[in-house]
Amino acid sequence: MRRRMSVAVGALPLFLLSLCGGPAHARDTSKGREVYSLCGACHPTDSSNGAGPGLAGIVGRKAGTAAGFRYSRAMKSSGIIWDDKTLDAYIGEPQRVIPGNVMPFSGIADPGARADLVEYLKTLK
Ligand code: HEC
Repeated sequence: MRRRMSVAVGALPLFLLSLCGGPAHARDTSKGREVYSLCGACHPTDSSNGAGPGLAGIVGRKAGTAAGFRYSRAMKSSGIIWDDKTLDAYIGEPQRVIPGNVMPFSGIADPGARADLVEYLKTLK
């Protein structure tokens, strides 16, 4: 997958806004990094594992495939590929999207916070 390397940081939200046909909320990786404080206790940002799997390269990855992490059967057999939509849905309501998965996290209700967070997750490589 090709990844966009560097766009002037200030221009990035506007660029994404124009790409996405003008959602009400411009996505913001630095806000997303703050939201990640809800995740960081369990998820390392590299390929090591903690209480949760490391999230380096999570966007584009198949669910349940981080090397060395013991996933639930529900996660391994979900068949999900993590992208903007599937991450947004899962982070919003983990148990609804993958019933029986064992992530002890109830979800983030605010769609703007989720969008920022997903934008931040894309920077983890
Ligand atoms: C208390 C620990 C904990 C917290 C907090 C937590 N997670 Fe998780 N997460 C887990 C565990 C454990 C799993 C594995 C679940 C399974 O196997 O069913 C997981 C799985 C995931 C997966 C699937 C990973 C893969 O390799 O398929 C994603 C994506 C994810 N979490 C994102 C997040 C995000 C984003 C946050 C913050 C909003 C978060 N998690 C908060 C523990 C946590």
